[in-house]
Amino acid sequence: MAVIAVALAGRPYRVVIEEGVLGRLAEAAAPFLSGYGAGRPVPFVADTNTHRIFAAGIDTQLAAAGLAAEWFVVAPGEDAKSWAVLEKLCDWLLALGVTRKDHVFALGGGVVGDLVGFACAVVKRGCGFVQLPTTLLAQVDSSVGGKTAINTAAGKNLIGAFHQPAQVLIDPLVLASLPEREMRAGYAEVLKYGLLGDAAFFAWLEASGNKVLAREPQALEQAIATSVAMKARIVAEDERETEDRRALLNLGHTFGHALEAETGFSDRLLHGEAVALGMVLAARYSARRGELAVADAARAATAIAAAGLPSELRGLGLACDGASLVEHMRHDKKAEATTLPFLLLRGLGEAYVARDVDLGDIAAFLDAELAA
Ligand code: GLY
Repeated sequence: MAVIAVALAGRPYRVVIEEGVLGRLAEAAAPFLSGYGAGRPVPFVADTNTHRIFAAGIDTQLAAAGLAAEWFVVAPGEDAKSWAVLEKLCDWLLALGVTRKDHVFALGGGVVGDLVGFACAVVKRGCGFVQLPTTLLAQVDSSVGGKTAINTAAGKNLIGAFHQPAQVLIDPLVLASLPEREMRAGYAEVLKYGLLGDAAFFAWLEASGNKVLAREPQALEQAIATSVAMKARIVAEDERETEDRRALLNLGHTFGHALEAETGFSDRLLHGEAVALGMVLAARYSARRGELAVADAARAATAIAAAGLPSELRGLGLACDGASLVEHMRHDKKAEATTLPFLLLRGLGEAYVARDVDLGDIAAFLDAELAA
């Protein structure tokens, strides 16, 4: 078991990582359930998968504690992060009589967490919520740090708010039902922490990543706890990404976002897979600039390939050139008027924000990678 504090002034919260914690939710989340009972149900939001797998157990536990859950269930997938679903969710919360002191429970992956977090940021100008992440990606990344959002026709996550959860309960056991491909995609974000800021963690993942992917309990908990501890530290230092600290968490994301856009944000390339390949490209581009040893860029690519994640751009079979990938990058929400910050590496475990990157050079680099 690990308990990690997110030390935000005035709004500190705890991330509890514990096998089986979802099975004792009524006790673990007791401070956030105190306003319910006596005819007031606890609002839970899930997708059809997490509802099918976990709702009955949660209903039983709450009943034993004299409480009842009321469920709002969305279809799995990014489509749930829409204005239409947000409106229905907010109306549902208002109809339930949710107050600013109440907490809404988000049971699912990043989609459910982002949607619920944003609804809770705006309902009555802000009510509480508890994150119960059920994918590795949500456990190590999206459930911690308070980034909440929906998608619009103009792009992903362009409408949102910073709204921190009151608590995050991470149960590694729930990953037993996670499809293999999603497990690997989440693991890309674990590797990201090693590459961006912890060379020893990266080396440990090189040696033990197979145990994490096999969901061996000790290795899995260590990987989640190390990742969350780094994220908590970075979020506490730069909650709103106004310094160059939180931006480090975007390692692999600028290249990755362009690849997701080129593949239509579809199942052809999951977010974590795009980030994985994006990190390989960031490492190779850093080597091209002479800032990272070529051997270290190769180590990053090897660790990513060893996890069954995409590590070669030409392997995607894209019918595009470097310039069109750069065009996608210009729509990234981190893009500024004339430039785009790139997360690059000075060493394994040493990411930094480069603001002097020439987009023409990026296009030429990508052309070479597409042809390699
Ligand atoms: N996923 C990046 C962040 O939370 O800042």
